[in-house]
Amino acid sequence: NADIMAEAAKIVVSRGADILDINMGCSVRKVLKTGAGAALMKDFQLAESIFQAVRKAIDIPLTIKIRSGWDPSGEDAFEIGRIAQSCGVNAIAIHPRTARQGFGGNADWTIIRRLKEIVNIPVLGNGDVDSVDKAFQMMASTGCDYVMIGRAAMQNPWIFQKVVSRLNHQVQPEISIKQKFDAICEYVNHTIEYMGEKRACRLMRSRLGWFTKGLPNSSQFRNDIRFLETKEQTLDLLRSFYCKVDDCFSGGVHRVISRNL
Ligand SMILES: Cc1cc2nc3c(=O)[nH]c(=O)nc-3n(C[C@H](O)[C@H](O)[C@H](O)COP(=O)(O)O)c2cc1C
Repeated sequence: NADIMAEAAKIVVSRGADILDINMGCSVRKVLKTGAGAALMKDFQLAESIFQAVRKAIDIPLTIKIRSGWDPSGEDAFEIGRIAQSCGVNAIAIHPRTARQGFGGNADWTIIRRLKEIVNIPVLGNGDVDSVDKAFQMMASTGCDYVMIGRAAMQNPWIFQKVVSRLNHQVQPEISIKQKFDAICEYVNHTIEYMGEKRACRLMRSRLGWFTKGLPNSSQFRNDIRFLETKEQTLDLLRSFYCKVDDCFSGGVHRVISRNL
């Protein structure tokens, strides 16, 4: 409903938001069922009325996040792109998988390139960028103005720093095991502060697995975190896991993570 969206947009601005993004990319069933997320890509008229109403309601930059749409051709995305541009949307982020695809198959980057040819507003390319090289490949092959990184950032939050370093022709920073350990502990602490110990620790059952993917003994670690309930348990498991990782890389000689922190 365009009026409700406009009202919500005003609330977001009153809370100090710098930009407002309308999520038209979510393909989770419970979201689609309500007509939100990628379901909005089915109804061009409704999408247009929402863009117009929200645009009128706020002065901050307005962006949208879309998928390819409901079939692999990308035609839904191109039409939504045209409409968005004509309504004064400032930029479009596109994850070129269909709504039905979820995260299956590959993101079709040719759709990013075609959208870029159709609209004049900035296009943020998204989908399957899991390394610095891939970010550069996406920019080169699609001409997108920006790259958006999702899942890879949850495994490696330093990926942005590395991409920026390469863009600035600087040496990419090496991230030590200690830095990774400190960052993950900080993440655990902030999440507990934000959502409370029980909910946060349950979330960590999956999140910590993403962070540690690819490190030695990580499959055992993923097994161990399946029953996380408390902060103490979470930090203890992390400490002992990262001590072992540290040992693997330094032979225990230069251990930087103390078992007794
Ligand atoms: C845990 C998780 C939560 C996400 N939440 C949102 C969301 O709220 N809104 C959105 O537009 N996309 C969301 N996405 C999708 C990502 O923004 C992105 O489009 C998708 O992961 C593909 O990019 P990637 O290959 O870099 O991960 C989410 C993805 C993940 C893994």
